[in-house]
Amino acid sequence: MPATLSRRIEGLKASSTVAFAGRAKELARQGVNVISMTAGEPDFLPPQHVLDAAREAIDLGLTKYTPSEGTAELREAVAAKFQRENGIAYAPDQVMVSNGGKQVLYNGFLSVLDPGDEVVLVAPYWVSYPAQIELAGGVPVVVRAPAETGFVPDLADVRAAITPRTKVLLVNSPSNPTGAVYPPELVRGFAELAEEHDLWLFTDDLYEHLVYDGEFVTAASYAPERTLLVHGASKGYAMTGWRIGFGAGPKKLVQAMNRLQGQSTSGANAVAQHATVAALTEVEKTAAFQRMTRAAYVERRDVLVEGLNRLGLSTPKPQGAFYVMADSSAIDPDEERAAIRLLDEARVAVVPGTDFLAPGRLRFSYATSLDNVKAALERIGRLIG
Ligand SMILES: Cc1ncc(COP(=O)(O)O)c(C=O)c1O
Repeated sequence: MPATLSRRIEGLKASSTVAFAGRAKELARQGVNVISMTAGEPDFLPPQHVLDAAREAIDLGLTKYTPSEGTAELREAVAAKFQRENGIAYAPDQVMVSNGGKQVLYNGFLSVLDPGDEVVLVAPYWVSYPAQIELAGGVPVVVRAPAETGFVPDLADVRAAITPRTKVLLVNSPSNPTGAVYPPELVRGFAELAEEHDLWLFTDDLYEHLVYDGEFVTAASYAPERTLLVHGASKGYAMTGWRIGFGAGPKKLVQAMNRLQGQSTSGANAVAQHATVAALTEVEKTAAFQRMTRAAYVERRDVLVEGLNRLGLSTPKPQGAFYVMADSSAIDPDEERAAIRLLDEARVAVVPGTDFLAPGRLRFSYATSLDNVKAALERIGRLIG
């Protein structure tokens, strides 16, 4: 037998976000002053009480394996969070902890998809969705949300995408990469479609705490018995590198995901789990941190959106997350060429929309300082002339 790679992995693309961020970092390493707006992560440190709890975990000797599904303390804290903030009553055994929301989602797809099963999702989408679905043997079926509606999909299009092979509807609001926040009636509409067609509903709520206008409502609140709620510490708690995600859903599904995790990665990092308990239970301190970060993001978003629209890189004003999907045509109608020009000539790094299924669009992340946002706009202004 030749030493070949699997067909599964041959078909897997590397993430373009990582590729452009890497190119920007390489230039920076060579001493070039690049403003990077590629980041998919908060530029803030986690709150002090989380840092303190991590130190405490080491002092307490929490250095051993944890249960595969996560520590009892953290699963209780997660269940309490869903009750307090989302009004959903999960028993601790309906909750599991993974290495990031990414793994929660992947556990979920691997647990429900058979070869050829379809997942309906909205584009522009986060690049890992189709990759994970395909790795699990499924087929992504895309509903396009246009810029004119602020990248909010039409429920009739979602309904039209459902076939006898559909197994999962996927909702991500606030969205990466568009920042769109779906109105509650649309979120409810997804849940009703899932009920009507007897589908799983996956809701990726990673950006719940980064909503600036409008209201956050999780799809899980409308149909908890058929929904996998995907969440984690990365975005709202500024803990990306700590790799803590949590999922909640019907016991049958969570148990299946836990069986899978037990044979693949086991439990998440023990120190980070202890720190996440602090993030979820020291409610007032965490709320103050989230108010502070939200205010900073709102200020940056407003400056960026106004500046890009003034320069002709038109964009709707996103209501959440920390991304803007701007039209690239003032630089180049081809988004890859536009991103390369921005990097090579203006020294501003962004991610082309190609892999998000957003042709002619560039993703700007404003998870960077207000000064950087302003300086980037000046550089783009000089490039366009
Ligand atoms: C939409 C979305 N979901 C999930 C994740 C996964 O985050 P993590 O694995 O860090 O929890 C990300 C991270 O970029 C994301 O943007």
